[in-house]
Amino acid sequence: MPPSTIAIDGPAASGKSTIGKRLADELNYLFFDTGVMYRAVTWLALDGGVDVRDEETVTRLARETPIDVAPASQSDGRACDVIVAGRDITWETRRPEVDANVSVVSAYAGVRHEMSQQQRRIGQRGRVVMVGRDIGTVVLPEADLKIYLDASAEERARRRFDEIRARGGEADYDEILSKVRERDRIDSTRAVAPLRPADDAVILDSDRLNADEVFARVKELCNG
Ligand code: DC
Repeated sequence: MPPSTIAIDGPAASGKSTIGKRLADELNYLFFDTGVMYRAVTWLALDGGVDVRDEETVTRLARETPIDVAPASQSDGRACDVIVAGRDITWETRRPEVDANVSVVSAYAGVRHEMSQQQRRIGQRGRVVMVGRDIGTVVLPEADLKIYLDASAEERARRRFDEIRARGGEADYDEILSKVRERDRIDSTRAVAPLRPADDAVILDSDRLNADEVFARVKELCNG
């Protein structure tokens, strides 16, 4: 029997979502990318003209707006649907302005409290692969398997760069690298639930592994 609750944490662009989705599909588990909830709150604030530095208003938004993360209803490349107040905002949560502001929003204690409670409720049902920054440490400290997927900032920036170029987009490696470093800094130095491996997490460094090799290693861990 594979573990029922699987937590995968790690820094931005470490490949958590790709690996987590693949694992969930193979096990026929729910894939839950918790970062989309912080992205949804950030989008809500930006869309409503709220200054993201206004912690009180942003926290109220997080408390009062129902955010629903559901299995993908369309095969347009999405890993799940993100529905806010009945509206499908899945692709809006990936916009550059959300990228640029989400670390600030996700550092707010009140926002984290709201999001973690919802995530915990879903995680406790089991048969779930949950991906984020604090799943093994805060949201599901009792998870059956905890993986911390790491990679150097340079490697993660290179992967982002290749992804954008493969889609035919324009990208500047140095700019991507500095954004990756800035998000690492905010995510790992915040007061509440900073990014760090749980004491009992298995740390996987993917710098010298391709996606298939990382997946093979993760499956080994699942099989005990
Ligand atoms: O994984 P991502 O890039 O979609 O995450 C977006 C932001 O949300 C990122 O700044 C870290 C934060 N986050 C978090 O603090 N805790 C989580 N469990 C998931 C994401």
